[in-house]
Amino acid sequence: MGFQKIYILALLGVLSACGGNDSSTSQQPKAARTGKEIYTSICVACHGVDGKAGTNGAADLSKSNLNAAGMAYIIENGSLSGKMASYKGILNPEEIKSVAAYAATLKHP
Ligand code: HEC
Repeated sequence: MGFQKIYILALLGVLSACGGNDSSTSQQPKAARTGKEIYTSICVACHGVDGKAGTNGAADLSKSNLNAAGMAYIIENGSLSGKMASYKGILNPEEIKSVAAYAATLKHP
């Protein structure tokens, strides 16, 4: 009888742990990625770490005339020529803003 009682207590413990009240881990929002993290995971492929790589005809970001807002527009809508695709739907508006801000720091006028 002793063993069954422990088993039931343990089972109850598991069930209440899965009950998902306030401190449930499953509901934690994922930490927002910084602009640099996004740039490093997506944009480097064409633009390179310093913005100068020019892979696939990518614009040299270090020589861009755009400010962060202008860059955000290109990232959200894609370039006019369509050579760079739109990242709307891949990045949320916050992420577009932060990656644009980071990309703007690569400029060296
Ligand atoms: C598949 C390759 C590719 C990837 C990935 C890419 N780009 Fe581009 N990007 C380009 C190309 C090509 C152009 C030039 C577009 C043109 O001339 O029409 C460009 C242009 C730009 C421009 C405009 C610069 C200017 O002065 O005209 C910005 C800003 C930019 N990219 C930022 C980013 C950011 C930020 C990311 C990551 C979210 C990114 N790009 C990912 C290929 C890429």
